[in-house]
Amino acid sequence: MRQSPSPGIVVLISGSGTNLQALIDAVANGDIHGEIRGVISNRPEVAGLERARRAGIPARVINHQDFSDRDTFDQALMAAIDQHQPDLVVLAGFMRVLTPAFVGHHEGRLINIHPSLLPDFRGLHTHERALEAGVQLHGCSIHFVNTELDGGPVILQASVPVLPDDTPQTLAARVQQQEHRAYPRVIQWFCQGRLTLRNGQVWLDEKPLQAPLQFSDPITLADSAC
Ligand code: GRF
Repeated sequence: MRQSPSPGIVVLISGSGTNLQALIDAVANGDIHGEIRGVISNRPEVAGLERARRAGIPARVINHQDFSDRDTFDQALMAAIDQHQPDLVVLAGFMRVLTPAFVGHHEGRLINIHPSLLPDFRGLHTHERALEAGVQLHGCSIHFVNTELDGGPVILQASVPVLPDDTPQTLAARVQQQEHRAYPRVIQWFCQGRLTLRNGQVWLDEKPLQAPLQFSDPITLADSAC
């Protein structure tokens, strides 16, 4: 019997690529049953590109500064992604706002990780803003992307405590540890065909999510055994 091919993934990055590394490692360990077919960065010479190349994954730069506007950049990005014919496009620290045309083209197969407990602190500088606001819990959210910035339906969140002597850097490091555990889990659900977006709602295992899953929920903990 022919085995069905692994779902194809393209990862978009802009920087150090620690989340990309977590995905590369999870594929190598068999925790993600998918194939990272390509990595694309909008910034040249970032560390994430080297991580991809070290793993033997085709990596290329599409520099947004080479384009006169957002639409033409997004068209070029779309064409580069389509060459890999991916089932899923993963934003892993990709720091560009995407046009509705791009989002529409990848609807239901475009996932982002954001470093806050959405809907709190959409946008940039989330760790600074969490400290300024004096929240006791902070974290990350993994969500399907829609046309609203950081506003797409949330799949999974992981929380961390905010400690009295935290700086933006210490808090970011604590959140990132959770990102690296949570993101591969969600990508595996997608690759297993368990996770879908239907009419703007997240479905997992043929049930609509009534609220974002939390990383400590039984379903996510149960999965960590496999
Ligand atoms: C992560 O904190 C992610 O949540 C945010 O950008 C950061 C990317 O870090 N969107 P890295 O490039 O994966 O190390």
